[in-house]
Amino acid sequence: MPAERSGLGRRQFVKAAVAAGGAAALSACLEQTAEPVPTGVEDPGAVPDRQHAWNDRIRTDDHGNVQLPRHQVFLYLTLDRTGSPTEADRATVESALSTLDRAYERSNDGLIYSVGYSPAYFERFDASLPESVDLPPPRRLSPFEDPAFDTQDALLHLASDRADVVLEADRALRGERDRANGVAVETPLTDVFSVADRRTGFVGEGLPAEKQDVDGIPDSKPVPEAAPLFMGFEAGFRGNQATEDYVTIESGPFAGGTTKHVSRLRQRLDDWYGEQNFPQRVAELFSPVHAEDGLVEGIGENLGSDSGLTPAIIENVREHAGEFGRVGHAQKAARANRDSDGNVRLLRRHCESTDGDVAALHFPSLQRGITAFEEVRQSMNGADLTDEPAIRQRVNNGILEYIFTTHRGNFLVPPRRHRALPDAHPA
Ligand code: HEM
Repeated sequence: MPAERSGLGRRQFVKAAVAAGGAAALSACLEQTAEPVPTGVEDPGAVPDRQHAWNDRIRTDDHGNVQLPRHQVFLYLTLDRTGSPTEADRATVESALSTLDRAYERSNDGLIYSVGYSPAYFERFDASLPESVDLPPPRRLSPFEDPAFDTQDALLHLASDRADVVLEADRALRGERDRANGVAVETPLTDVFSVADRRTGFVGEGLPAEKQDVDGIPDSKPVPEAAPLFMGFEAGFRGNQATEDYVTIESGPFAGGTTKHVSRLRQRLDDWYGEQNFPQRVAELFSPVHAEDGLVEGIGENLGSDSGLTPAIIENVREHAGEFGRVGHAQKAARANRDSDGNVRLLRRHCESTDGDVAALHFPSLQRGITAFEEVRQSMNGADLTDEPAIRQRVNNGILEYIFTTHRGNFLVPPRRHRALPDAHPA
C-alpha cells in the first residue's frame, strides 16, 4: 500500500485495519503513515491524575466543541487470578500502562486512554467501596431491553486520531509487539489479564459515510459525508455536556476519578432514513420545535456550541407530544440531565462501531455517580409519555424505534494514582 495514498481510500483502509487488528493490518497501516508519532513523557508520574481529563488534549471545532479521537478500541479484560490481586499483579499493570505513557504523547495525535474497574472486580475484596463511589452493577434500564451485562474486571479504552497508534498500543498491551513507538514493552497487560472482548469504534466526519455498507443501514447510502455519526447529525455540543470537573468524584480515596457507564446499542436505520424526512428526523432527535422553526441545517453544525434546547423546550415535552404527535430524544433526556443549579450532569463520549458488520454505537458516559446516568436514561425512555395517544413506547418517542441496547457495563475510572488494580478501599 503506497504511503502517499490519501483521502477517502486511505481513511477507509485504516478504519478496516483497526477493526481487523491483525499483524498484517498493522504493518500495512504503519507503512501508510509517514508522520512520526509524538512521544510521551520520560516520567509517567507526570501524567495528570485524572484519567478522564481528555478535553484539553484533543481537538475542538470552531465552536469549542470537543472532537473525540477518530479511532478507538475497547478492551474488556478479565483477571486470570481468582481472589484479590497481588502486588506483583499491580506492578505488571503499572508497567504496561507506563509503557504507553512513555511511548505516546497523551493527545489525539498520540494516544489517550483510561482504565476502569467494574463492580464485579471490587467484589474480589473483603472491604467494600467507599460511600463516595456510586457504582452499582449494571442492570436493565428499560422494560423493553434485554442487554448482556459486561461484568469483566476492567475496561481499557484507547483512542487516537491515528489508527496505527491505537492498533500498535492495543497489540503491545496484548503481548503481540515488543515495542510501542520505539519504547520497549517490558510487561504486557496479558501477563495478568485475558482479553474477554475487543470492540472497535470510530467517530468523525467521513468515517460513518465510508462504513455505511453494514447491517442496519439501508442500501441507499443515506449517511452524509459530513456526519460524524450514522444517524446523520452532530452530537456532544459543549453547552450540553458536563465538564470534566463536574463529573469528577470529589471526596474519599477515589477523589479525582469518575464513573463510566458503557452501553452498546445496535442501530436499525431503515425507517430512520426510509420513512422519516429531514424535519421528522430533526424532531425525533432534537425536538419538534427544532423542526418547526428550522433550527437545524444539514448535520447541525449551524447550532454552534449548544443544541438549542431551551428550558421551555425541555419543560414542554408533554405539550409537544399532544401538539406535534412526537417528542425529541434530546429534549426528553435533558429533563433529568440538569442539577438544581442548571449544570449538565453527563459527559457523553460516544462513537460508532461496525464490528461484525453491524451498525452499532458504543455509548460511554461519564458522571460523578452511576445513578445520574440511570436517571437520565430513564428520562430518555419517555415511558411517562405513553399515555399521550400518539406516543408509544418505541414510536414517535425520540429515537427509541431505531436503537436496541445489547450491552451495559459500569466502571470506576480511578484517579491515576490508583489505576493499577486498586483495592476497594485504598488507604
Ligand atoms: C444512536 C444513538 C444516539 C444518538 C445518535 C444520539 C444523538 C444525540 C443528539 C444529536 C443529541 C443533541 C445534541 C447534543 O446535545 O449532543 C443528543 C443529546 C443527548 N443524548 Fe443522545 N444520542 C444517542 C443515544 C443516547 C443515549 C443511549 C443516551 C443515554 C442516556 C443519550 C443521552 C443524551 C443526552 C443526555 C443528551 C443531552 C440532552 C441535554 O441537552 O441535556 N443519547 N443525543
